[in-house]
Amino acid sequence: MMMKRQEKLQIDQLTVRYTTRETSTTALEGVDLHVGEGEFVSVVGPSGCGKSTLLKVASGLLKPAAGEARLDGRVINGVTGEVGMVFQNDALLPWKTVFDNVRLPLAVKGLSRSDQATEVRRLLAMVGLSEFEDFYPKQLSGGMKKRVALARTFAYDPDLYLMDEPFGPLDAQTRVKIGEEFLKIWEKVGKSVLFITHDIEEAIALSDRVVVMSSRPGRIKAEFEVNLERPRPFYEIRFDSRFKELQRQIWNCMAEDEQKGGV
Ligand SMILES: Nc1ncnc2c1ncn2[C@@H]1O[C@H](COP(=O)(O)OP(=O)(O)O)[C@@H](O)[C@H]1O
Ligand SMILES: [Mg+2]
Repeated sequence: MMMKRQEKLQIDQLTVRYTTRETSTTALEGVDLHVGEGEFVSVVGPSGCGKSTLLKVASGLLKPAAGEARLDGRVINGVTGEVGMVFQNDALLPWKTVFDNVRLPLAVKGLSRSDQATEVRRLLAMVGLSEFEDFYPKQLSGGMKKRVALARTFAYDPDLYLMDEPFGPLDAQTRVKIGEEFLKIWEKVGKSVLFITHDIEEAIALSDRVVVMSSRPGRIKAEFEVNLERPRPFYEIRFDSRFKELQRQIWNCMAEDEQKGGV
């Protein structure tokens, strides 16, 4: 029997404008988007199409001009602890060690000191940084910092992960490695994710569904179900013919914008 999936995030007819004294930019218009319980949804689209804006509304940082966003059926109104956000240039606290950077959300949650330590070590082992707990951020490579940021996000463990190009500044090889680790951990945790990326391959490899946005004002242009098995081999899946077909379809969908004289 098919079970109807419960929606974690439900966005309906969302319109967002940035208004200053002189100008008003419509960043999003009439956007409908949902993320089911435990579902991994990626959003791809040209630069400036409103992807970050969408996440800011979902995180409660930004209020829509029209439409609404709901978390577990309740209208999102301001920032709450149920939603966790990872940004592209997610800064670690430079004056704190790796251990303390990951420990912070656990302390905020009120775990005991010894539970905090156990959890930090478990998470650092998960991202392969057990040996670096006493290091400071400036002593780490970009990829390592990203792993610490991921460990911190999993320490925070929100009900909904909002990720805005979290692997953005990494080189291609590191990006694949981090993506692989992230997918492995996520497949165990199984929380709802709304993930922004400009990388079509990354989107397909990670997601249950890929949503394509068109350029200004941002609208949902198409959605693609990714019916590939899980656990999924993050890198090798790229050579699967079903993957390649999806990639071709999404690519064509995005290219239409350009032919119409878009960005
Ligand atoms: N704070 C802001 N003030 C005015 N315009 C903004 C602001 N943030 C974003 N925009 C505009 O809104 C549109 C969408 O931006 P954004 O959501 O950052 O796009 P993306 O993340 O897809 O690149 C762009 O045209 C951008 O210039
Ligand atoms: Mg952005």
